[in-house]
Amino acid sequence: MIEHPISPRRFSTSSSLKGKITIPGDKSISHRSLMLSALSVGESRVTGLLEGHDVLATADAMRAMGAQITRQDNGEWVIHGVGVGSLLQPQHALEMGNSGTSTRLLMGLVATHPIHVTFTGDASLSSRPMGRVMDPLAQMGTEFSASPGGRLPLMVRGIAPAVPLSYRLPMASAQVKSAILLAGLNTPGITEIIEPIPTRDHSERMLRGFGADLTVDLDSDGSRIIRLRGEAELQPQNIIVPGDPSSAAFFIVAALIVPDSDVIITNVGLNETRAGIVTVLRQMGGHIEELNPREVGGEPVADLHIKHSILTGIDVDPALAPSMIDEFPVLFIAAAMAQGTTNTTGLDELRVKESDRIAVMATGLAAIGVTVRESEDGLSIDGSGGELLAGGGTIAGHLDHRICMSFAIAGLVSRQAVTIDDMTPVGTSFPNFEILLSGLQQ
Ligand code: S3P
Repeated sequence: MIEHPISPRRFSTSSSLKGKITIPGDKSISHRSLMLSALSVGESRVTGLLEGHDVLATADAMRAMGAQITRQDNGEWVIHGVGVGSLLQPQHALEMGNSGTSTRLLMGLVATHPIHVTFTGDASLSSRPMGRVMDPLAQMGTEFSASPGGRLPLMVRGIAPAVPLSYRLPMASAQVKSAILLAGLNTPGITEIIEPIPTRDHSERMLRGFGADLTVDLDSDGSRIIRLRGEAELQPQNIIVPGDPSSAAFFIVAALIVPDSDVIITNVGLNETRAGIVTVLRQMGGHIEELNPREVGGEPVADLHIKHSILTGIDVDPALAPSMIDEFPVLFIAAAMAQGTTNTTGLDELRVKESDRIAVMATGLAAIGVTVRESEDGLSIDGSGGELLAGGGTIAGHLDHRICMSFAIAGLVSRQAVTIDDMTPVGTSFPNFEILLSGLQQ
């Protein structure tokens, strides 16, 4: 287990945020670019890779299974892959730190290789359910020994050849979908996934980009049917990773709620399976303009121009939840500054993220003087109408980067400084968060 020194921080009332920033690469795309490059025979290059702890955990894992992965001085990453079916037996347990995406996707990847792999993680990751991945993979023939409740540490005994699976996703989870797709790569025949509620489609896009035979059709009830032909031969690629909309969200909200702000965020990924936060903030009255829309690495991208806005509380459409599942913590901060009440429902999945984000956000919001009501599947928040929040509380971040960053943003619009008990988890997804923030405050 990784021990780190605790790093408490105070965030206080901010002057207007002004300027132009570029946020780091997309976390989801970064993980996938390393995994698929490591499964291609030959040299792939990745530009704009997120160099956060979660992605570095994926890189270490792929190295432990035979890939050569190096970072060039110019920031480009070069990967020499081993090929589908040729992952090596790692000589030690794979330490996944805080990263649910690394763990669940890699469980799929190793499930259909004839190796056995132990996964360990930090306290947050070790409390998260892995049964959602083990259930479908067990149907393919993989065996698991997990800690009680289907949690880490756990061991995967991969099988090859595995049995191809047709699986209807019981929850909206791109991680589960991707784990099955990665398992399907080294499985004879067609692996089929039925996805009733669409989730981020980076795996599908990137698998196709690497040359896999993957199709997506719509069922009569609107479900997506994804079919992947196994025993794939992936071709090495040059990948450009767009900026992470989930990281951009903190600065979008900050610029909307700090008076007189005017910020441009360049190179933000706006894949429609990720961009729900922009839709909802616009519905609340947020000024978010898309400049220079273009395609980067097979993904839609634009620069965003955000100006301080008077926000109004709304009932957030639960159908949008999968396309903004990681953005609810910071949306709740925007809601706390809006006029009127914002109601959210259908957010059960938030309870099994890096922390229980419904409960942790409710506690934290109450600690800084916001009126909030918690239900099983959402929060209802009374906004201040643009008045400063009381602030003054100390927030327990529960090893959850997005909780820490959300309350850091709340501090910018609080009368008394907001203290975050430990900002180190931010390094998992957004290492230069505080540097970018102070740059906009000059
Ligand atoms: C991710 C999927 C989402 C998201 C996570 C990244 C991915 O998790 O919350 O941060 O890269 O596939 P779920 O699949 O559990 O919804």
